[in-house]
Amino acid sequence: MHQSDLSKLSLFPLTNEADSRGHLYIGGCDCIELAKKFGTPLYVFDEVTLRSKCQEFQTEFTKRYSNTLIIYASKAFLNRALAIIFKEEGLGLDVVSGGELSVAQSVDFPPENVYFHGNNKTADELKQALDWEIGRIVVDNFDEMELLNSLAREMGVRQSILLRLTPGVDPHTHRHTTTGILDSKFGFPLATGQAETAVAKAMSAPNLNLVGLHFHLGSPIPDTSSYQIAISLVLNFAREMKTKHDFHFAEFSPGGGLAVKYTVGSQTPSIADYAEAITTKVTSLATELDLTCPKLIIEPGRAIVAQAGVALYTVGSIKEIPGVRKYICVDGGMGDNIRPALYEARYEVLVANKVSDDESTNVTIAGKYCESGDILARDVSLAPVSVGDIIAIPVSGAYSIPMSSNYNMVPRPAIVMVKDGKARLIRRRESYKDLIKLDRI
Ligand code: LLP
Repeated sequence: MHQSDLSKLSLFPLTNEADSRGHLYIGGCDCIELAKKFGTPLYVFDEVTLRSKCQEFQTEFTKRYSNTLIIYASKAFLNRALAIIFKEEGLGLDVVSGGELSVAQSVDFPPENVYFHGNNKTADELKQALDWEIGRIVVDNFDEMELLNSLAREMGVRQSILLRLTPGVDPHTHRHTTTGILDSKFGFPLATGQAETAVAKAMSAPNLNLVGLHFHLGSPIPDTSSYQIAISLVLNFAREMKTKHDFHFAEFSPGGGLAVKYTVGSQTPSIADYAEAITTKVTSLATELDLTCPKLIIEPGRAIVAQAGVALYTVGSIKEIPGVRKYICVDGGMGDNIRPALYEARYEVLVANKVSDDESTNVTIAGKYCESGDILARDVSLAPVSVGDIIAIPVSGAYSIPMSSNYNMVPRPAIVMVKDGKARLIRRRESYKDLIKLDRI
């Protein structure tokens, strides 16, 4: 058994290995055996990688800025097994719906470390959060502020909130995932004066306790300079609000969004680079502006789960159009990973039972769904592939499963967590029965 130095393998979870037959191992488990035992498509999560990313975020931030709380952005992928791991690792959670909130509740996540985001939280969702004595609600707009204040009044509580601001900074990522520019559905814009009105209103709302400010620029963000620009705008704003409204800036969140390496050639900041850029900017500006250093809330999603997850598929058919293209058709696709179709996201691909073979053929990995756009990876180099081979796609842990669908009435995949040579099912595969269980005739 050897840990390969093939650069493609470096995208896989930290525990990746290959044996003498060329089988890929994750968490001490043979991926070919996992595919046989649990079926495909199968999502494999590596517990060691998951915990090590949590710890890396905590260490890199707290050694530079001790008053930091890392909260995992659940939307990247949450289920009960993961929520328990985050709780054990001492992270908080960012949730955006009553559903994500209920997963946190189901594992007795400490409510004080849960932050509730979203641009259109319903009254029921807000009540659910207030009932649970959630730590913070990140208020996104004036209607929500009014609704929350009146719900809190009815329940006789004073809810701590942050305000989500739109600083007007473009982080140069996909337009679908850009959120911090002026023309965005999220947050109170700085540029229009609405952010200031929001501070004044929140401070005079009797059942709200304004403790801080938040922004999220978008995702994935490939460099740290846009964070620094936005931090400067928001801290200057906090200073102005202190002078004008006696605002006490106790908490500050620059959101999440750190990019990850999906492909061998891509360049992304490390967690340490990201921590350095954010903490130095906050520390130096707070001093310069005579602000007490606020508690820092960091909201990584993708950067915690992406590398920990691997998708396994079985090759079912191969179509070669001479001189045009060779399609390798697998048993999953846009139903379990919509990202290539939605964002033109790129992934690397490996034949999990031929890890050591020369990657001499150029192929396109197609899914099984009835759309020509259902392509998981276009023009990738692979070892010669045959029907029955197992295809592994690394960096599949973020935003695949949570954005999955039952398009074409295809059941969603099973998910296993691997560690020390053992695999445990953390979500069973959907059955045909599951697909019709909500129907009424
Ligand atoms: N905080 C807030 C307020 C967010 O809206 C998000 C992501 C995050 C934190 C976490 O961002 P991350 O660290 O995971 O990049 N479906 C898209 C990504 C949408 C991100 C939405 N918000 C994708 O598949 O790329």
